Amino acid sequence: MDMKEKLEQMKAEALEQIHAENADLEQIKIRYLGKKGELTAVLRGMGALSNEERPKIGQLANEIRANIEAAIAKKAQEIQSKALDLKLRSERLDVTMPAKPLPAGHLHPLTQVQRQLEEIFIGMGFSIVEGPEVELDYYNFQALNIPKDHPARDTQDTFYITDNILLRSQTSPVQVRTMEHRKPPIRIISPGRVYRSDALDSTHSPLFHQLEGLVVDEGITMGDLKGTLEVFAKKMFGESTRIRFRPHHFPFTEPSAEVDVSCFVCGGSGCRLCKGEGWIEILGAGMVHPFVLSNCDIDPEKYSGFAFGLGIERIAMASLGIDDIRLFYENDQRFLSQF
Ligand code: DAH
Repeated sequence: MDMKEKLEQMKAEALEQIHAENADLEQIKIRYLGKKGELTAVLRGMGALSNEERPKIGQLANEIRANIEAAIAKKAQEIQSKALDLKLRSERLDVTMPAKPLPAGHLHPLTQVQRQLEEIFIGMGFSIVEGPEVELDYYNFQALNIPKDHPARDTQDTFYITDNILLRSQTSPVQVRTMEHRKPPIRIISPGRVYRSDALDSTHSPLFHQLEGLVVDEGITMGDLKGTLEVFAKKMFGESTRIRFRPHHFPFTEPSAEVDVSCFVCGGSGCRLCKGEGWIEILGAGMVHPFVLSNCDIDPEKYSGFAFGLGIERIAMASLGIDDIRLFYENDQRFLSQF
């Protein structure tokens, strides 16, 4: 075989390899065009050629080198664009596809009930005020006619930070704070957390929520208290709801009462919810004690007022049919998602 044939055959071989399915271009390049490659070897043998043949073969060898290089470059291009094509196809996304729905949360049942209570009282012209949870003994007890040695402190034992600073055991101190810097007419509610050093069981929690109400103006009577609470009870528990006042004692109201609503499950005939009573106790109330008014520089000869305080958990448990207060604080989705 002469040199020309050899070169042509090598070229054919190289091109065939380049065009093969899984061509290893780097390998092919080294094999034919590398320093120790086949083409180089052929060129090295050119010394044996005649003067006439040498330039022809030289030219042919250069052409073949160029052919192989071009074929490799072209194939590399093809491989690259095929890969890109594949990548693009696999990453294609449909921007018109609807998104997966995210599960939406909702307000905690206690917050729902609190908002419901707030809305009812706002509808009757009350505004909302807030007070501190870390409170002075003075506001939580003394200004409410509960001095240091008063037996009412036993039922409201709370957590003390110092002798005179405590976690409030009721929302009633907000009455005093409000009357200290606002003068009548006053018509406010104050919802919030309160604390007592009670052990946790199905009806007690060391942290719970109350909503306080206070109305002070000239000529406010027990009739206003009854009317207000009756409207509230009907809006909260249904139009056929009746209310009942039972005499009671609170140091900061005189007279004082505990207030029941007719059972909204049985209507008063007695059932499991009202424990056969026909009535459910929902709050404490009364006419603001003259001592409390005087403490806040409001003249009890000129002004009178009523106040009430209810437990938000108690109302929520009754109206939502929940029998264990602990469920409110455990954050168990199986419970919360029911409301
Ligand atoms: N603060 C009382 C308690 O926690 C509830 C209460 C009773 C509030 C009578 C009042 C009221 O405003 O007039 O037991």
